[in-house]
Amino acid sequence: MQCKTVFLKNLLLFSLLISLFSCHPHHAVVETKSPDGTLKISVWEEGGKAFYKVTADEKSIINASTLGFDFKGMPSLDDSLKISNVSRATRDETWKPVCGFSSEIRNHYNESFITFTETSGMKRSFTLIARAYNDGVAFRYQFSKFNQVDSLLILAENTHFSFPANDTAWWIPSNEFAYESLYRKTPLLKMPDANTPLTIATQSGFYVSLHEAALYDYSEMTLKRTSEDSLRFVSSLWAEPDGVCARVKLPFATPWRSIMIARNPGGLIESHLIQNLNEPCVLKDVSWIKPMKFIGIWWGMHTGRYTWFAGPKHGATTARAKQYIDFAKKHHLGGVLAEGWNKGWETWAPGIVPKQDFSTAYPDFDLKAVVDYAKANQVEFISHHETGGNIPEYEKQMDSAFALCHKLGIHYLKTGYAGTIIPKGYHHHGQYMVRHFQRVVELAAKYQIMLDVHESIKPTGIDRTFPNLMSQEAGRGNEWNATYKASPANHAATLPFGRLLAGPFDYTPGIFNIIHTPEMNKRLYCTLTNQLAMYVVFYSPMMMVSDMIENYENKPAFRFIEEVPCVWDETHAVDAVIGDYVSIARRSGDKWFVGSLCDENNHLIKIPLSFLDKGKQYVATIYGDSITTDWEKNPEAVEIETYQITSTDTIYAALSKAGGHCISIRPKYANESSVYPTIKTYNLSSTAKMNVFKKLKTYGDNHISHLAVKKPVKLLTMYSNTYPASGNNALTDGIRGMLNYSMGNWQGYEGTDMDATIDLQQTTSIHKITAGFLSDPGSWIFLPKQIGFYVSTDGKNFTLLDKQTLPITKPSDLNTIAIKDVAYAFNPMKVRYIRVKLTAIINCPAWHSSKGNKAWLFSDEIIVE
Ligand code: NOJ
Ligand code: CA
Repeated sequence: MQCKTVFLKNLLLFSLLISLFSCHPHHAVVETKSPDGTLKISVWEEGGKAFYKVTADEKSIINASTLGFDFKGMPSLDDSLKISNVSRATRDETWKPVCGFSSEIRNHYNESFITFTETSGMKRSFTLIARAYNDGVAFRYQFSKFNQVDSLLILAENTHFSFPANDTAWWIPSNEFAYESLYRKTPLLKMPDANTPLTIATQSGFYVSLHEAALYDYSEMTLKRTSEDSLRFVSSLWAEPDGVCARVKLPFATPWRSIMIARNPGGLIESHLIQNLNEPCVLKDVSWIKPMKFIGIWWGMHTGRYTWFAGPKHGATTARAKQYIDFAKKHHLGGVLAEGWNKGWETWAPGIVPKQDFSTAYPDFDLKAVVDYAKANQVEFISHHETGGNIPEYEKQMDSAFALCHKLGIHYLKTGYAGTIIPKGYHHHGQYMVRHFQRVVELAAKYQIMLDVHESIKPTGIDRTFPNLMSQEAGRGNEWNATYKASPANHAATLPFGRLLAGPFDYTPGIFNIIHTPEMNKRLYCTLTNQLAMYVVFYSPMMMVSDMIENYENKPAFRFIEEVPCVWDETHAVDAVIGDYVSIARRSGDKWFVGSLCDENNHLIKIPLSFLDKGKQYVATIYGDSITTDWEKNPEAVEIETYQITSTDTIYAALSKAGGHCISIRPKYANESSVYPTIKTYNLSSTAKMNVFKKLKTYGDNHISHLAVKKPVKLLTMYSNTYPASGNNALTDGIRGMLNYSMGNWQGYEGTDMDATIDLQQTTSIHKITAGFLSDPGSWIFLPKQIGFYVSTDGKNFTLLDKQTLPITKPSDLNTIAIKDVAYAFNPMKVRYIRVKLTAIINCPAWHSSKGNKAWLFSDEIIVE
């Protein structure tokens, strides 16, 4: 098969002089409208500067914002500009991705090429290419050679994004090594900087995802707020040691700055904007590129049962690899990954320069024998290269290591960059690394190797052009639920509207042994059905089945994993509230799979089956939470039932707290005599389940009541709206967090100040306020610099009662974990509202092993007596 454009309806290219004038009376405004006329990107010049704005249904999505660049050795390009030429194009075609979540993708847009030329000085010019699709708009800068100049040293790209209102945003901070962060949900004014994709719900009723597409030979773009009280953000690139962010040879086009726009959250999920902004496939032969589900010798290392390095607990032994291959064959999984097969893992440790040998196996792992055994069993062996961030070393070995894969017949490779980038001074997401990641993709294509890259640059749709780039991590996956810091369930319910909009995500779902470690901090905070639903909700053509094989034995729910595909013909977002719940239906051939998952609360999700063929009989197998499912005490309880359905039915899916729900649907066979119950009985049981689920404990929320007035205490503003280590009410749940902060009831924040207000529900006489903090400098958790206690009777005017300054932690405390209470006692007074404000130290102090990096602030339980 070759990937190619299958249907080119209409390609119209014509040049015209600026002819459109609109609201800017003295300036020509070049408007580019989406084919359906609802979205518009307008570009113009004013006072010598280039401007753009974006509207949807005439409502502002991006207000007038300036464009420009700073260069090394040349004046900035944002002055004395005039539009010197405009031309336009329209395209409407349908193309087929090699792997995708839809088998056919319509690429339909209007486009303008707007050339800006300086009227003075060097008379340089650039062309802004603006595109409008029905699901978003995008623009990029194109530079041609001018005079004697054939390259540019870019110090800054000054693309501004002025948001019209202080809307709600879901974001992760910009300086996130590998993007493995939990999402914050805050108003835009509380977002100092962010990585993309950035998600925004506008007051005007739109859902927006701001990202970039086709990132080649350039730094990634992050966003920085221009000043504290501003809704104007500016693109920010990663500088290399000499301060240059991108060195580009002319002609050059920057990545697309993309603004996906939908009328509901599901519209974002169905969008193909990022893929459409990328170039068609450049690989001539793609017949060797095949999606697959795979298991791996992997979770055992993350949970500490095995080691990556050779020794008594070595995970990747020949015998274990063969056992995994047998399992893969028996359960129709395509491949087996073995991490730790090669020499050098001893160097993947703090304080050592990582240096692995990607062509030599440990003595207890016979690479050839394992690959041959896999082949004999029609299973693919997936190799693994953990660079640890040592790029020069990997670039030295890459070619021979890939050639070895090719020689042995290894077609799948997982790579990793878990470590600080060597050479020093280069950022994970700067141009140096973007170039490296690209070299790997192209070299892999040469050797017919499909890639799954961890700690990679964020996806920007280049898998359309290089479809051997099967999947990437670049996000916070299940591994955090092993030995690090468990993620709250709302993370999985947020990802489809954030990270997943960038491209395939190797989240590594499918952990069945939810409470896998007796210590509470190392378990998963969800039900088994929630893990199961990820196979539909998270798209990845290389999809891991992550648990150890023994945890799948005799688990009837494993049948869903055996059956569920990892590429799709059609995707339909059923319903969603960002961060609360999401339900997606996907079709493969004549089968449909529906996956729904939710946050720490229970949810009843209505799934109308109107996507099924009318008049046809179907059989649905439902994997749902049972009436006994409880994320805390009984997370693995799954109820599997089969029903007869048609397109006119609606399934009411009852999701337990942090729960999930999956449906596997197939047409009823012509000669099938079995009679299945209709969905009515199932829906009745959903109501009963919801009543039970409602009463279950939500982590972080224990419905503690005000002991004096016997009413629930209310948390009016949390320390931070949204970045709790656990449920949102940990400050008032009545449970002291334990030293194990990832257990779920401590709230953690990275370097940000905190501010919480509690409503006592009625004016009450109080005499003491206490706030609890965790101190674990070894894990970068520090006490606040300062803590302030305030009270109020009306909730508006607060009186400061006391401000306390806490001592800065000393080096000797590096190994000390402690809980510290900070209290203020006073003569009884009558108040209704309590406010506690903290100032964090922001960065680890100079004596810390990680000096200058972000510090965490963890707090829990405000006690009012
Ligand atoms: C981090 C990766 O994300 C994980 O999947 C891998 O197991 C470890 N690094 C070791 O390479
Ligand atoms: Ca990782």
